[in-house]
Amino acid sequence: MEQKLATITQSFEEALASVENTHGLEELKVRFLGKKGEVGKLMSGLRDLSNEDKALAGKGINILKKQLAEALEAAQDRLKVIEEKKALEDQWIDVTLNPAGSESGSLHPITLVHQRLEEIFEAMGFMVLDGPHVETDYYNFEALNFDPHHPARDMHDTFFFNSGRLLRTQTSPIQIRGMETFKPPIRMVGTGKVFRCERLDASHEACFHQVEGMMIDKGINVGHLIHTMKVMLSEMFEKQVEVRLRPGYFPFVEPGFELEIACLLCKGKGCAACKKLGWVELLGCGMVHPNVLRSGGIDPTVYSGFAFGMGTDRLAMQKYGITDIRHLHNGDLNFNRRFSTASGYKVF
Ligand code: FA5
Repeated sequence: MEQKLATITQSFEEALASVENTHGLEELKVRFLGKKGEVGKLMSGLRDLSNEDKALAGKGINILKKQLAEALEAAQDRLKVIEEKKALEDQWIDVTLNPAGSESGSLHPITLVHQRLEEIFEAMGFMVLDGPHVETDYYNFEALNFDPHHPARDMHDTFFFNSGRLLRTQTSPIQIRGMETFKPPIRMVGTGKVFRCERLDASHEACFHQVEGMMIDKGINVGHLIHTMKVMLSEMFEKQVEVRLRPGYFPFVEPGFELEIACLLCKGKGCAACKKLGWVELLGCGMVHPNVLRSGGIDPTVYSGFAFGMGTDRLAMQKYGITDIRHLHNGDLNFNRRFSTASGYKVF
């Protein structure tokens, strides 16, 4: 028996030395420790021995079995580490690389005009503020001088939550939040999405974008407003654009205006984007109503200010020659790709 045990130990050690992976190790385990393996065969041979020899041989076989199992386990741990290291090396990928054949993305035209507007206003000393999309009635209406049953609210139908909060219909709540936070002199702009229940057409969306602006100081007048709007537009379009002001009603300004530019899409001839008028309404503006200054904790007998709210979807349409506002929101990649900053897309 001793001879047999020694032979098995030797052939196991030789076989183990040539095993290269855990699969080979599994085969080795079956060959020596499996039911019909080498050790199993020795066990079956025990029945032919005398009781005395049986006890002695059985002890030897168990010791061998234990030694083989331990050697297999140690080899298993060693090979597993080697295999994992190799897998990491073979399957290494650079997750920061673009997928093969893909191109880098581009900024949406609305983002481009917002970024440019922020640059223009920052250069004029305005700070850039933000505000929430979900607003309270107070910030969207009441503090802006809309009484609870004021007919001007009809123009701002929106989506209400059970809590009484609503999707803001304009960026003007940023004015109130800004006045509450900062003391005059104040120069601020705020950009973002606004929401209204709207009948859609080439220049109306239910979710669109605005840039709000406000300047408050001693002695601010309509001249400051008009000059600031003209500078902003000529910087934006990189040329002078034809502008006209019409009286416009907003409860939070007095006097109030609507600013229009001669439509750059049809060169003033009339198209769907300008409702065949040749002029496009870009923004509402005016001198801040005393009640609104009071809502913001500012004394209207000392300070005055102007404010404006501009539709930036319409601005982007005019800047980039987009004839229908719905192109801006339909997620068509072919459309969006044209606005890659690197593509040199024609600017009107
Ligand atoms: C307002 O929203 C006022 N808060 C603007 C304002 C601010 C006036 C400060 C005075 C002082 P209005 O509803 O007119 O006003 O909207 C402003 C601009 O947003 C419009 O001139 C237009 O360019 C754009 N706009 C309005 N409705 C839509 C719409 N449904 N789709 C796309 N753009 C729109």
